[in-house]
Amino acid sequence: MTRTYAAVSNKGGAGKTTLVTLLAGEYALRGERVLLIDADNRQNLSGWWTLCAEKSNTPDNIEVTVASTQRSIEQAIDNLGRAFNVVIIDAPGVDSSLQATIIRSSELVISPIQPAIKELEAAGQAVAAVNEINDQLGLNISHFNVRTRISVPGRNLEAYRYIKPFVAGLVAAEYRTRLLDTELFERNIYREIQNGLGTLQMQELTDPVRKARVEVHALVDEIERSRASTSFEGLA
Ligand SMILES: Nc1ncnc2c1ncn2[C@@H]1O[C@H](COP(=O)(O)OP(=O)(O)O)[C@@H](O)[C@H]1O
Ligand SMILES: [Mg+2]
Repeated sequence: MTRTYAAVSNKGGAGKTTLVTLLAGEYALRGERVLLIDADNRQNLSGWWTLCAEKSNTPDNIEVTVASTQRSIEQAIDNLGRAFNVVIIDAPGVDSSLQATIIRSSELVISPIQPAIKELEAAGQAVAAVNEINDQLGLNISHFNVRTRISVPGRNLEAYRYIKPFVAGLVAAEYRTRLLDTELFERNIYREIQNGLGTLQMQELTDPVRKARVEVHALVDEIERSRASTSFEGLA
């Protein structure tokens, strides 16, 4: 069975595309066939892919397709997606009607959150959108929040410290969401790979790359472990 995930936050610059490429590289490394759907008409994801091809850095086990209408997204999942183990949709960074299509087509929606209030608001909106679709259509789509662009000093920011109680508040209000323990740090290598260097997992194992790899490995482990457990109560 193909698993379909989506990175959703209507905050531009939240870290969706970065998250998608990091996850794709890790799943591909684990031998899974990964289809990435670029549903954002700014085409950052497919831009990365084009640059990778130009520089002969196309990763194994990953394909990228562009689909920015409801019909094309559904077709990409139904037709192309069957040949893949994991489909990951990169959603647009604005509140659009596509968001509902993307969420409805996914079993798991992940929202990156940077330590800033606007980011929390966008994650809260994604949680509400997922829950509304679950209620309306009788589905069981999960929603995870992942903290990104974290730094050690940044953990002292009020906005950082507010993330946990914010998600706990959503859980208390019976929203089906959880905050992942694994955080993505602010790392230059995450920016650099966007310049067509392929995936993180293809980079030479320097010290910064090793640290990043450990982090992304832990994130995928946590996603897969959490996805398998069905109870959302008290997990924020
Ligand atoms: N963990 C991170 N460390 C360093 N830079 C990051 C990180 N996450 C995102 N970025 C950078 O922030 C910018 C916005 O991220 P992006 O993934 O494109 O967001 P979105 O797809 O939500 O608009 C990009 O320049 C990206 O390289
Ligand atoms: Mg993007």
